[in-house]
Amino acid sequence: MIEGLHEGNKTIDESKQGEATLLDSTKGGNKKLYLESYGCQMNFSDSEVVASILSKEGYETVSQSSEADVVLLNTCSIRDNAEQRVRTRLKQFKNAKKERPNLVVGVLGCMAERLKKKLLDQEKLVDLVAGPDAYRDLPGLISEVEGGQKAVNVLLSREETYADISPVRLDKNGVTAFISIMRGCDNMCSFCVVPFTRGRERSRDPQSIVQEAKELHDNGYREVTLLGQNVDSYRWNMSSKGRIKDESKPTVNFAELLEMVAQVAPDLRIRFSTSHPKDMTDDVLHAMAKYDNICKYIHLPVQSGNTEMLKKMNRGYSREWYLNRIEAIHRIIPDCAISTDIITGFCGETDEQHNDTISLMKEVKYDFAYMFRYSERPRTVAERKFEDDVPDEIKKARLQEVIQLQQQHSAESNKRQLGKTFEVLIEGVSKKSDADLCGRNTHNTMIVFPKGDHKKGQYVKVKVNDCTSATLLGEVVEEEKVLTTA
Ligand code: 5AD
Ligand code: SF4
Repeated sequence: MIEGLHEGNKTIDESKQGEATLLDSTKGGNKKLYLESYGCQMNFSDSEVVASILSKEGYETVSQSSEADVVLLNTCSIRDNAEQRVRTRLKQFKNAKKERPNLVVGVLGCMAERLKKKLLDQEKLVDLVAGPDAYRDLPGLISEVEGGQKAVNVLLSREETYADISPVRLDKNGVTAFISIMRGCDNMCSFCVVPFTRGRERSRDPQSIVQEAKELHDNGYREVTLLGQNVDSYRWNMSSKGRIKDESKPTVNFAELLEMVAQVAPDLRIRFSTSHPKDMTDDVLHAMAKYDNICKYIHLPVQSGNTEMLKKMNRGYSREWYLNRIEAIHRIIPDCAISTDIITGFCGETDEQHNDTISLMKEVKYDFAYMFRYSERPRTVAERKFEDDVPDEIKKARLQEVIQLQQQHSAESNKRQLGKTFEVLIEGVSKKSDADLCGRNTHNTMIVFPKGDHKKGQYVKVKVNDCTSATLLGEVVEEEKVLTTA
């Protein structure tokens, strides 16, 4: 897991899915906005909504905070260290304000929602606080600050999906994009702060999702990732405004939505995240199998391999249920990559229970995993009801064991790909060398290969002839095959 922050590039990976970035894609305004995102892909996607809302007010985004009139940090609360990193950053901006007193500094996202006015009153670090459902109010909030007040809006909504807002694409590759399909989470996993910071689950109108995918394709994009905290519980009906109100009306579920998006264009790849083992139906797997342009990769967080722990985590499935879902994936999509999330040292976890996680990993052999030690979060069921009683050294030792095992499995998974040929969507120049290009295969593995005459946005067939721990290396054997749907 890469953690850290690089100004000018802004990569801040809190969980995995997360990168932070902000780049100058809006032009022509006279006010300058610097936006930094932490945490999950959803935050990244939300920042694009924020950039869009503020571009209508004349803000252009800039890639250096020193140039900005307004600095907004889109934050993550998932683990304590994610919040600490943001606090350190906010202190830097507080110092910057000594020299630039008119600089507006705001906190968005999960920390804004969790800490609310505390960020203004107790910590006195910022001028503005806006929760994940309050971004339409940002122009008003910034005006309040410019008028000399502190501003806060942390109201959560049951209906806001920002469906009508066309995100400003901050990631400059111009090939891959996120589409947010739902917001919030109703699951209440006992360790997780997300239901408190992002509110109730609501789904976005499928027509607006399809429209966004079409527009992206028209603009040269060739891959979309459908985002939601639990995409399998996506559900829309005509009366719903994002929440089901009339069961008698026709409904669109996630499997149907996947098909609708897959039909937008045969050369538009579809990915999605995150699936929930308790809700992932065979219909979703059949939809994936039916369309060549739906990537054969599923992120299916298990969290623990022990049924008792899973119950305490309120995950809604047992070890056996989970393994049955893995079996269904292999049966319906024979060559599908699978990744997971694992937490070590959750409340009361014994050595035997930890060993169940190890044995499950050995059974599933994940291609990739994101692994964390448990971090107690305020207001969660675990914080209120259970004791955070696994000593930190044990949490860390278990995490180390899990990481080492996964490294072995990932290396084996990469070695199995040697000699195979994959269709790769070129995303750009390789980070390490200008002479190489890179892109991912259907399994979400990055493949690096010599540039030749190939260009970003093209599909090429690459034969893999070597690998590093996280990347496959190869060479192009055939160019520009357009994907076909079934
Ligand atoms: N402590 C550690 N990891 C957590 N996650 C969520 N909440 C916590 C927590 N309190 C992990 C889970 C989830 C991923 C996004 O973050 O594994 O799937
Ligand atoms: Fe958190 Fe569980 Fe919802 Fe994921 S499904 S966001 S882990 S509560």
